Amino acid sequence: MSAGVVVVGAGQAGFQLAASLREAGYADPITLLGDETDRPYQRPPLSKAYLAGKTDAAGLELRPAAYFADHHILHRPSVRVGSIDRPLRRVLCADGTALAYDHLVLATGARNRALPVPGADRPGVFQLRDRADADALKAALGEARAVAIVGAGFIGLEFAGICAARGLAVTVVEAAERPMARAVSAETAAFFTHAHGEAGIRFVFGAGVVAIAGDARAEAVHLRDGSSITADLVLVGIGVVPNQELAEAAGLRVGDGIRVDALLATDDPAISAIGDCARAPSRFADGAHVRVESVQNALDQGRCLAARLVGRPVAYDAVPWFWSDQGPHKLQIAGLATPSDTAVIRPVPVGLCVFRFRDGRLSAVETVDRPGDHMAARRILAQGRVLSPDEAADPAHDLKALAVGALAVGR
Ligand code: APR
Repeated sequence: MSAGVVVVGAGQAGFQLAASLREAGYADPITLLGDETDRPYQRPPLSKAYLAGKTDAAGLELRPAAYFADHHILHRPSVRVGSIDRPLRRVLCADGTALAYDHLVLATGARNRALPVPGADRPGVFQLRDRADADALKAALGEARAVAIVGAGFIGLEFAGICAARGLAVTVVEAAERPMARAVSAETAAFFTHAHGEAGIRFVFGAGVVAIAGDARAEAVHLRDGSSITADLVLVGIGVVPNQELAEAAGLRVGDGIRVDALLATDDPAISAIGDCARAPSRFADGAHVRVESVQNALDQGRCLAARLVGRPVAYDAVPWFWSDQGPHKLQIAGLATPSDTAVIRPVPVGLCVFRFRDGRLSAVETVDRPGDHMAARRILAQGRVLSPDEAADPAHDLKALAVGALAVGR
């Protein structure tokens, strides 16, 4: 009997691959190995609706138990894969078992970066990546009075919005001079600094955290300039690192992610990598290899790889897009900008619309509370439609007409 596809990692990418394989008629075994205890679930609501108490654990599940049985997808929770035996095409699990594969998919995701300062492991200091993190944070939130957040990225700012809505004192300490510097323009960052400030959130930019102090629990965050922030709950959200050690130990090429080609294959044709752990070439990065941290990327790479594994190979070419719900505002990003890309603001009556350009070409569009413009931007980017900075800045230049034209031409 065929050994089928073995997937390491039961997050969104791994699950989507399994589901898409079955949809495409793949008939051999599919085994989904995950080190978490839960069935595959969505992570984005953890820092949004789940933490705010608007959805429960069942509401996070990607599919109920019956789906896995009906589709003959064997999900094995609480399994940690320790190594890959490439010559024999099998994975070795930490519990001593071995599992053979015809094709191995690494969908190992990423983990939170740790804050390397004394006291970062004190009770009262939290992170937010998986459901266990969210449960611990939610429980602590009920008792908290003053919250300090280290890192003004997506996670930190989403959490800040939830805390402010609960009437808590919130201070965000950020190493850079503005929030979300990795992901958005100075203009979009300024919008959110202002909006969060209006909601009572205090920012400390250019901050260096040197310690988290306290007796039994966290009581204060000490900064390099000698100041400190009193807090009984500290959330650390300073980015993620890809889980690439398994691939690296197996001799596959890594470097801020597992290196794959346009078909998502590693250097070993029997092994592919998808999702947050994979570094793939992208036309949105001028052909360079990039690692994209988004649900969109996890889903689209899962679908793309499934197509190849059933004999319909296509190069991965999806438009990257992201979103973040912060306080009452929805930030959406289409495309991939680098920090040096220029920013052109389109005057809009509500929210914000920022076009990013690299070498005169549209690279990304950041919108706030403008879902229609975001959808138009995704279509324009998908088709590589030409939009000049002057046209972008002109509210009379119809984006939706350009986007509709893009669809009519291309699909
Ligand atoms: N002290 C303060 N701030 C820091 C430090 C530090 N020692 N180190 C990094 N930072 C800041 C960065 O400058 C950045 O603004 O932390 C922020 C991290 O932001 P992200 O990279 O967006 O990471 P995070 O918010 O942790 O989100 C992790 O979850 O929602 C997803 O797409 C998101 O994949 C991302 C992941």
